[in-house]
Amino acid sequence: MAKQNLQEIVKEKYGTAALRAAAGGVATCGGGADSSCCDPITKNLYDSSQIAGLPQKAVAASLGCGNPTELAQLQPGETVLDLGSGGGIDVLLSAKRVGPDGKAYGLDMTDEMLALARENQQKSGLTNVEFLKGAIESIPLPDNSVDVIISNCVINLSGDKDRVICEAFRVLKPGGRFAVSDVVVRGDVPVEIRKSMELWVGCIAGALEEYEYRHKLFTAGFESIDIEPTRIYKSEEARDFLAAAGLDWEEVGPAIDGKFISAFVRAAKPGGRGLVVGPSCRS
Ligand SMILES: C[S@@+](CC[C@H](N)C(=O)[O-])C[C@H]1O[C@@H](n2cnc3c(N)ncnc32)[C@H](O)[C@@H]1O
Repeated sequence: MAKQNLQEIVKEKYGTAALRAAAGGVATCGGGADSSCCDPITKNLYDSSQIAGLPQKAVAASLGCGNPTELAQLQPGETVLDLGSGGGIDVLLSAKRVGPDGKAYGLDMTDEMLALARENQQKSGLTNVEFLKGAIESIPLPDNSVDVIISNCVINLSGDKDRVICEAFRVLKPGGRFAVSDVVVRGDVPVEIRKSMELWVGCIAGALEEYEYRHKLFTAGFESIDIEPTRIYKSEEARDFLAAAGLDWEEVGPAIDGKFISAFVRAAKPGGRGLVVGPSCRS
């Protein structure tokens, strides 16, 4: 699948999800796999105390697979960038954590999501927030300008993950942190799953294998790389999801049991002088 085509499909699906949340419904990942795919992945990610006070539509549009702001240890005054910010839930949470001397950017390519996120920002009354339009493969921010990169279930959707990781490295300040929730695969995955576009768009089939993720971060120049599972999926949970995508659960289920996880992926850009960008990022 050409990268451009993939982006257009992702945009269309998340545009529809944004419109649903904007109209007072609950966003789903889209496609034939729809809500049954997202549910085990997106449900109960945030404590009620954390989301109390956030605009209801920001919560309804939540389509992540983790809670990166909770794990990222954000400090007052820091600059945070959320890759694929959707309806803005993690950007608003970050903005509260970094306070008025800090700044939280959200980056998304889907117009409907950006409109919803900006509406949510207005309702929240937070002023240290900015939503930017663009692709995570080409981040519209200068080199060395961000303390922390967060993201919630987006990098798995990209057709050029090396580019995304290099861009994250570029915009982070020396010593900056990569603190991302993502779906990750452990070991081999049956080819039928990789081939299913619906599964891809619904968060799973574009996921990196754990070792591959570490390797990409390392070759981009990151250090202190860690992948911590936050949820481990049983094949039973994916039964409806796989059936909706036309796959035979009896056949595929046993081969994927426990292989898909939501994980918190951490890494750091080395600090100080003489910083070397990994060979994969030199253009
Ligand atoms: C699964 S949703 C997650 C949204 C948000 N992070 C959350 O936790 O609710 C994916 C979001 O990433 C955006 N997205 C996907 N691929 C992107 C890309 N290559 N560049 C920019 N945004 C992208 C989509 O438009 C959508 O808003």
